[in-house]
Amino acid sequence: MIAIAEFKRTLVTSALPYVNNVPHLGNIVCTLRSDIYSRYLKLQGKETLFICGTDESGTRTEIEAQKRKLTPDKYCKVMHDTILKKFNWLEIEFDNFGRTSSETNKRLTQEIFSDLEKKGWIIEKEITLLYCAHDDRYLPDSYVEGTCPFCGFEGAKGDQCDNCSKFLEPAELKNPRCKLCGKTPEVRKDMHLFLDLTKAAPYLKKWIESKKEWKGISRNLPLAWIKEGLEPRCISRNLKWGTKIPKKGYEDKVFYVWFDAPIGYIAFTEELLQKDWEKWWQSKDTRIVHFLGKDNVPFHTIIWPAELMSNSKWNLPDYISSNEYLNYEGEQFSKSRNVGIFTSDLEKTGIEPSIWRFYMSATLPEHKDYDFDWQDLMDKTNNELVANIGNFLFRTLSFSKKNFGEVPSEKLSADDKKSLESVEKLKGRYIDNMENFNLKEALKNVLEISNLANQYFQKNEPWVLVKTDKERCGAVINVCLGLSSLLGKLLYPFLPSSSERLWKQLGFTDDISKGGLDFALKSGQKLGEPKILFTKIEKDDAEKFKIEFSGKR
Ligand code: 2FM
Ligand code: ZN
Repeated sequence: MIAIAEFKRTLVTSALPYVNNVPHLGNIVCTLRSDIYSRYLKLQGKETLFICGTDESGTRTEIEAQKRKLTPDKYCKVMHDTILKKFNWLEIEFDNFGRTSSETNKRLTQEIFSDLEKKGWIIEKEITLLYCAHDDRYLPDSYVEGTCPFCGFEGAKGDQCDNCSKFLEPAELKNPRCKLCGKTPEVRKDMHLFLDLTKAAPYLKKWIESKKEWKGISRNLPLAWIKEGLEPRCISRNLKWGTKIPKKGYEDKVFYVWFDAPIGYIAFTEELLQKDWEKWWQSKDTRIVHFLGKDNVPFHTIIWPAELMSNSKWNLPDYISSNEYLNYEGEQFSKSRNVGIFTSDLEKTGIEPSIWRFYMSATLPEHKDYDFDWQDLMDKTNNELVANIGNFLFRTLSFSKKNFGEVPSEKLSADDKKSLESVEKLKGRYIDNMENFNLKEALKNVLEISNLANQYFQKNEPWVLVKTDKERCGAVINVCLGLSSLLGKLLYPFLPSSSERLWKQLGFTDDISKGGLDFALKSGQKLGEPKILFTKIEKDDAEKFKIEFSGKR
């Protein structure tokens, strides 16, 4: 069991989105999870930074920019700003959202490379590359498609097979095709640089083995790969856009996108803080927690720590929290086929950010894949968020405001105490779940508390008591307002803006995002104006969206 009390400070990261598309709902699972987690840590008063940014290197960036007649830098800047805007709309609050093409990141990347070279972990090899004569460019990674030599999957990408997850080199693919023009590329030879993972392997093994608390594939996958034997990994590319390689003979090449991308986590910390940023990356009392999708596990548990091992000054990741996939109505999200819902579409639906956050949190694919479904979105919103939580809060607040106007005094009966004990237990489970990365379970605990709260309201019938026993009615309402405050605190990491609104309705003047899960609900505290916090999704709308985003328009 992990308990955050043991840690002094935590640096939380979320996998850096590529600039080539606005992310779809599946892409942002890890962003939302890291936002929830870092908000929780901050709420609990822990020193925390939440770092993310755009992943800008690579062939695709060069090609997409060219298509739009923009320089890669301009194109990346536009996409960076667009993506950040979408994240902000979803109430994702980074401390810094940087760009991997920044000068800081280039400097750090070159420094880490030079340290790896000094350590003897960089080797040179002549390799066979695919070159498309039609498009006049080398075709790395994502621009070649073919059959996986390991599992026979026909749609394998040039750097990794999505079916068996194996790392690949483009020239290893059987029946390769240029993804730009579909033609068969020609084979050329060129000198390239490799990160010698065979040298890193024993250190990686020892390090991962020491991470007993890592769950599932974050631990099993890298250990299995190391056991099979790691291969040197090519880290240079024939491109103009990217980080230059500080080595004679490599002036016309840049680093592979995955070499400089994770270094962005460090660069964005330095850029944010300017001074004293080193303590976040070099001091042993900082804990580094990476959130990512399962396809990113190999890079974060093998290549990235091997880069950090370049110099003993760097902290290695302390925890990797990976998620499974969110699919779309039985299919994979696809921009080109117009299938699925992208962050650029969310606003157009008229469904509020809180509802999106709630639904995504309630269905997080933490242990297995989940299928997004409009009917399911409607059901969970209407039955759980609106009918359970929203209903209790609005009932309590409107009844309290009308009959008391302020928080009535506390006077617990034996029965009340019993009900509150069950709530305390659930709160304890919520804390354990939050601190152990079971965020979906933690939200379930909130719903369970809200369920108990509804039952309490129903059983005590304050609407009868108000006429027969106003004092007892006040005591019941005091309990209900206390439960509402607790729900506000517990919901805050999931639904920040709704919880802030609730906080005001309850008459608090302090900041809900601080001060832990405790609160002081004083009798006599003036209540604010009660307003409905969450609106239902109409069946017609859900049906309309189902057609609109199915790619069958
Ligand atoms: O898979 C992806 O979307 C990558 N852009 C993630 C990079 S995470 C990090 F290491 F930079
Ligand atoms: Zn081509």
